[in-house]
Amino acid sequence: MTELSGTNDPNAPDPNAPDPSASSIPLEMRQTLIDAGQQHVVQFFEELNRKEREELLCQLKEIDFHQLSRLASADAARQESPCDIGSIAPPSAVQADGAGVPWTIADARQAGEESLRQGEVAAVIVAGGQGSRLGFHHPKGMYPIGPVSNRTLFQIFADQLLAVGRRFGVRIPLYLMTSEATHDETEHYFITNEYLGLKSEDVTIFKQGTMPAVEALTGKLLLASRSSLALSPDGHGGTVTALNRAGCLDDADQRGVKQLAYIQIDNPLAHLCEPVLLGHHVLSKSEMTTQVVRKRHALERVGNVVSIDGKVQIIEYSDLPEELATQQDDQGNLKYWAGNIAVHVLDLAFIKRSVDSVKSLPFHRAHKKVACLAADGSQLDPDEPNAVKFERFIFDLLPSANNALVVEALASAAFAPVKNAAGAPTDTAELAKKAISDLHKSWLRESKIPFADSIKVEVNPCYALDLSEFAQKIDPAHRVTSDQYFEASSI
Ligand code: UD1
Repeated sequence: MTELSGTNDPNAPDPNAPDPSASSIPLEMRQTLIDAGQQHVVQFFEELNRKEREELLCQLKEIDFHQLSRLASADAARQESPCDIGSIAPPSAVQADGAGVPWTIADARQAGEESLRQGEVAAVIVAGGQGSRLGFHHPKGMYPIGPVSNRTLFQIFADQLLAVGRRFGVRIPLYLMTSEATHDETEHYFITNEYLGLKSEDVTIFKQGTMPAVEALTGKLLLASRSSLALSPDGHGGTVTALNRAGCLDDADQRGVKQLAYIQIDNPLAHLCEPVLLGHHVLSKSEMTTQVVRKRHALERVGNVVSIDGKVQIIEYSDLPEELATQQDDQGNLKYWAGNIAVHVLDLAFIKRSVDSVKSLPFHRAHKKVACLAADGSQLDPDEPNAVKFERFIFDLLPSANNALVVEALASAAFAPVKNAAGAPTDTAELAKKAISDLHKSWLRESKIPFADSIKVEVNPCYALDLSEFAQKIDPAHRVTSDQYFEASSI
């Protein structure tokens, strides 16, 4: 009714017309923009309607202009790499065979299982990236990656949470971080797919923050339209602030959670809430534990987990000088061998303590192509990087964590990232599907079940979470003659 009378009323204001009485730029904001040399962002203000003006003002109010001018300054640009390499050394780590700590893998498993049974573990998945390198125009979590089942990344991790929850008789809360670009579609996907079998009250989908992009040459803010700035996700370092803002830290506290098991959405071999990793974390009284794999070669495009001045730290591949990356130890192995797979365990108390200090984490600069408006208001779609985006990284919390621990996993069982479009030599969906199938074939082999080499195999986590569960469940007389998916119901 209201709508109808509104559209029929010839005197009703056109919501798209410039509105002279609409909010003007507050004097203080005008001065801030002048002082920061950013007044161009309001050059189209007079043409905007009330809603557009408010939206633009709202974006501008969120910006810390002092911080922005520091970040965008020529000095900051000169120090492209914010890390100081100091006295760098390989990290001490719990090795894949359990060496390096005074307890055994069985002890760690027991401690991790106990923590899970007590309901002390929640899961955090970061899924704010846009998958542009992959050439997939939906949230990456919706990518069908199951080599036989075609299940999506989101489904595979929901299956893991269901399986772990059932094994330990608990409901594991899931905190799923999205970004402006992935939020609505992710939320819709979960709702229309009935939360992938999870209880809706155990799933919180929340948006990460944003940072404005600036023109690389001048440090000027870029306009995405006449009424909006070009903004981009603030990096997974924004997880802490976003978790707090969305009430997840309080929710976790109320549920008695002590550790957050953190993964990135893009690695289908990541193990969410894996008991041995959790147990190492608990037994070492670590506040932040990170799982690593041996790098396949010196210049592999993964973060390097190292020790700097005795503190665990991660240096991106682009920031580690080649002469260090290629150094070998006395046995001829890579000296800086530990590759970051972005699987972390974080103490809830540590994260709560870090909510304020996270603001002092460094911003990393990334040169990117950002579509924007030219000074005359025409649209620019650059072919080359024209802008700088600013991101914080969650792993920059490592040096401030007490007893930070590094735990090695085998890449064949823990790392098959989906980053690049088909045809690329590494990190494609095809390679990840093969890695999943190869891992599950190794379970058949260990369980002495014959199979043809050419087939594909996939095991749903609800059928078996690991080799030992698989070996217990599978009928020794079972034969695999064509592609096979071991589903939850094929128990
Ligand atoms: C990242 C790590 C690298 C590691 C590799 C393993 C960083 C900076 N580098 O590289 O050390 O070896 O993964 O696969 O993390 N994300 C968000 N919000 C953001 C930015 C990223 O949710 O603002 C999520 C994305 O959804 C993605 C993940 O974080 O799942 C990784 O981000 P990406 O920028 O793709 O990092 P990589 O360069 O792949």
